[in-house]
Parts: sequence; C-alpha cells; structure tokens
Amino acid sequence: MAIRTILHYPDKRLRIPGEPVRDFGAALQTLVDDMAETMYAAPGVGLAATQLGIPLRLFLIDVATGDDEPSDLRVFVNPEFVERQGEMTWEEGCLSFPGVHEEIDRSERVKVRALDRDGQPFELEAEGLLAVAIQHEHDHLDGKLMVDHLGLLRKRMVHRQMVKRAAESSV
Ligand code: NI
Repeated sequence: MAIRTILHYPDKRLRIPGEPVRDFGAALQTLVDDMAETMYAAPGVGLAATQLGIPLRLFLIDVATGDDEPSDLRVFVNPEFVERQGEMTWEEGCLSFPGVHEEIDRSERVKVRALDRDGQPFELEAEGLLAVAIQHEHDHLDGKLMVDHLGLLRKRMVHRQMVKRAAESSV
C-alpha cells in the first residue's frame, strides 16, 4: 500500500468528472487500498478518486474516526442516488481544501445504490454525517467542489485563501 498525493484546490484536475469503473481487477484493488491508507493518514472521513487525479467514479468513506471506534470503511463504486429527502446544513471540510470549514446545505437523508470493490451491488440508506459524506464525495465524482455550494462572497474568500496557501507552499 502507498499514500498518494491529494490534489488541493485550485488544481484543475479536481474539475475532471470521473468515468464509470468497469474493471474490478488488481489495479482497482490496489487503488482502493492506497485510497484507504491515504484517507486514514490525512486523516479524513472521505476520499474520492478524483481527488488523486484519477478520473474514476469511486470514493471511500469511514465516519467512525474516533480512537475508540472500530473502523467502518465503505467503498462506493459507480454510485447513484435513488432518493434524497429533507434539508439540513452541515459544517464540512475537505481534504482538497486544507483548513477550510464551511456550512453547506445538503439533503437530510439519502438512499444510494453502488457497487462494492468486488463489483457487487448494494443499497444504503443514510442520514447525518454519513449522508453528508456521501453527498460531498459524490460531488467530487462530477468535478463539483464544496465552494460551488457557497455564496459568491464566501466562494471568493475561500478561493483567495487557497490560492494564497498554494503560493506559500510552492516557495
Ligand atoms: Ni472533499
């Protein structure tokens, strides 16, 4: 396993939508293992392949991040929403936006259909943090980012903050 580099906004590769996964062979298994290691090392509760510059419809979520909780890794391949209900606001972060936390409007409950890492279909109903994470990571697969949910003023502020950060870290 290996830790891969997570792209940071405003890297344009974050805007490239993912293509459906068709091959569940060794390369995909290695990618899933690497994504898990990368996500836990960050640490984060979710990571999409598109955040590594790999344009595939694949993301991982583990909302059991507490030290006293067992890990609960879920792999979503080619996910689709079956239902979205209600509204809620959640303060979100993103591994592609280090240091940024913003309130974002989401659906309160979601039902999602996806394949697991072996290509087996499953359905999952979620609420709370898991529902937020699924919606956030699903956005990544379409090249959509948390700033796209913000008003113009907040979006500009986050953009400036991230551009400044990128300039500082490249010195
Ligand atoms: Ni994210």
